[in-house]
Formats: sequence, C-alpha cells, structure tokens
Amino acid sequence: MHPSESPQSILDNLTIAVVTLDRELRLTAINPAGEMMFEASTKKMVGQRFEELFAGGEALLQALRESLGAGHPITVRGVSLELPGTRSLTLDCVITPLADGSVQKNGAAAVTTLLVELTQIDRLLRRTRDENLLDRQAANRAVMRGLAHEIKNPLGGLRGAAQLLERELVPKGLKEYTRIIIHEADRLRNLVDRMIGPHKPLAKQPANIHTILEHVRLLMLAEVPGGLHVQRDYDPSIPEFEGDSEQLIQAVLNIVRNAVQAIDGRGTIVLRTRVDRGFSIGQRRHRLVLRAEIEDHGPGIPPELREHIFYPMVTGRADGTGLGLSIAQDIVTKHGGLIECESQPGRTVFRLYLPLENGNG
Ligand SMILES: Nc1ncnc2c1ncn2[C@@H]1O[C@H](COP(=O)(O)OP(=O)(O)OP(=O)(O)O)[C@@H](O)[C@H]1O
Ligand SMILES: [Mg+2]
Repeated sequence: MHPSESPQSILDNLTIAVVTLDRELRLTAINPAGEMMFEASTKKMVGQRFEELFAGGEALLQALRESLGAGHPITVRGVSLELPGTRSLTLDCVITPLADGSVQKNGAAAVTTLLVELTQIDRLLRRTRDENLLDRQAANRAVMRGLAHEIKNPLGGLRGAAQLLERELVPKGLKEYTRIIIHEADRLRNLVDRMIGPHKPLAKQPANIHTILEHVRLLMLAEVPGGLHVQRDYDPSIPEFEGDSEQLIQAVLNIVRNAVQAIDGRGTIVLRTRVDRGFSIGQRRHRLVLRAEIEDHGPGIPPELREHIFYPMVTGRADGTGLGLSIAQDIVTKHGGLIECESQPGRTVFRLYLPLENGNG
C-alpha cells in the first residue's frame, strides 16, 4: 500500500461524510467531509453524545440503537437534523455495526462501533434545481445574444447615416438633432454590448481568488470614498486555480457593486473565502471547490425578485439595467462554477463556487 493510502488517509479523502460511534453513541471519529457537513471540527465533536450534537434526529437515534442491539446494518432515509444556529440538514444514513468477533448472550455479534455514512439529500435536490436554472439561463442568454446581434446591425447603419447627414446639413442648428441620434445610437450599442456579455473566450491562467477580491475591494473603495468598510475574512490556504482573472474581477465587481448599492455606500461589506469538500455543481462532483462570499447587511432582495435576479433585464433599481448578475453568472458558469444567493432583510449573501480541480464525473 502506498503510504498516502493508509486507512486514515482513505477516510480523509472520502467525499461522503463518515462518523463512528461507540456503544454509548458517543462520537469517536469523523472525517473531513463530515466536519464540512456539520461545520464543526473533530475536536469539538468527538466524545460528545449523538443526542447532544443534533436535535430532531429521533428516527436516526432509534435506528442507531436498533443496529447496536441487533447487530445488523440499517439504512434510514430523509432524516432531518437540526444544527446549532438555524441550519438543518436532510440526510440519508447507512448504519453499519462493526463487531470485535465476540458473541453476546443472545447469539448476536457484540457490536463495538457503529459506522455511519451520511449523504446530504437536500444538496441533491438542490442540484437538480441548479441544473434547471443553469439550463434556463443558458437558453435565455442564447435568445439575448441573437436579439442583440439583430439590433446591432441596423444600429450601425443608423449611426452612419446620421453622420453623413450631419456633414451635409447647412443650418448649424439642425446638427443638434443628428447629434442626438448618434448619441442615442451609441448608448443603445453599449447596452447591447453588455447584454451580449463578455464574448471573449476565457484566457485561463493560474489565478488567485484573493488577488481578485483585493482588486475589487480597492476599486470599490475608490468608487465610494468614505463610509464604506470592507471586512476581509480570507482562508489564506486556498490554492491557485485555472481561471480568467479579468473576467472573474468583472463577475465579483458586479456582485460587490450591488451590495454597496444595497447599503447606499455606507456600512460594512464582508468578503469571505473558504474551501468546501465534496461539492456538486451541475452534474459534476468536485473534491474541492473554493467558496467566495459577499455579504451585506442591507434591506435584502425584494421577495418578488428573489427567484429571478440572475435573469437578464431583471432589476429592482430605477437606473439599473438588470444585467450585472446575469453577466456574473455567465462568467462563473464558464469556469465550471456556480453563484447562489441567500437573502433576507438585514443579511444578503452571494456565494460564488469555483472548482479547484476537475471533478470526477
Ligand atoms: N446585495 C443585494 N441586496 C439587495 N438587492 C440586491 C442585491 N444584489 C442584487 N439585488 C437586486 O437584484 C437586482 C438585479 O441585480 P443586477 O446586478 O443583475 O442588476 P442591476 O444592479 O439592477 O443593474 P446593473 O447591474 O446592470 O447596473 C438589483 O436591481 C437589486 O434589486
Ligand atoms: Mg448590478
């Protein structure tokens, strides 16, 4: 066996969450995927009793006791566990009793350890939702691109004709009108260019998420002087990844700018980075993804817009074009990533996920 394939290292690299419990249902071990799922460290969890750790897991608790007593494996589906805070998880659990070889009085093997494999199914349910969303967005963008293209052609002609007309016009006063035509044609062309989004293919190079975030932070501080505080909560261990920094800066900037607008340029924005293990994006399961969060404490996304903000032309602002998030999603999707959003009055978080290595299908 290769040294890196010791049983511990195999456990550490599993993308499925695994915990072991002793006969008193105390947690004896948890792998990194499990720590990730419960957002708690081994140190904090090991030694604690199952019922102290999770509320609402009665069905699972019963199954654990039964497996312990009878010595046979049990699968429980759709268990809801309440975690500290407001988070809850829906899980499928496979319980396997491990025996030390001795036999109990009733003839059953004496179980010393319960091995529990946990699969988060709310994540699976959400994955299908993500996929539908990404499909719909891709279809939407195709229509937009087609439309934008059709608008650009006659627009060029219109602008050219106005320029010719301007040259021929003798009464100077009339030129004011041709200027309006040219100016409005330019404005429309800019809008259409934004509708199409960045059409350059990705220029992928080793990229660093913190360089990207810092660039955006400095841009924002220059744009909104005074009153804006950007709090940084970075995980410095995040490795580089292959990406187009220019385009990713654009994506992050669009999200951060929305956050700044939501708090009227006064208050705190939090930029946070973390690594997540065993995360699925669309059809692909990734061993490692980076998560960059942009959090603000503004009024939140109006409820009627919440489901639609990633669509082009959806805006809640009088002077918004509603393109910022659709462009951001487009750029991140091209990187094999995903943006999701959680919003309530007082707290809005945009999460940008980018794979740190290729998924294994
Ligand atoms: N952090 C946020 N807090 C509250 N509302 C938000 C936030 N981010 C986005 N929104 C809402 O989502 C809408 C869509 O955002 P998007 O960036 O796509 O377009 P926009 O900001 O309106 O226009 P553009 O970015 O093209 O100038 C916004 O108009 C706003 O109503
Ligand atoms: Mg915007």
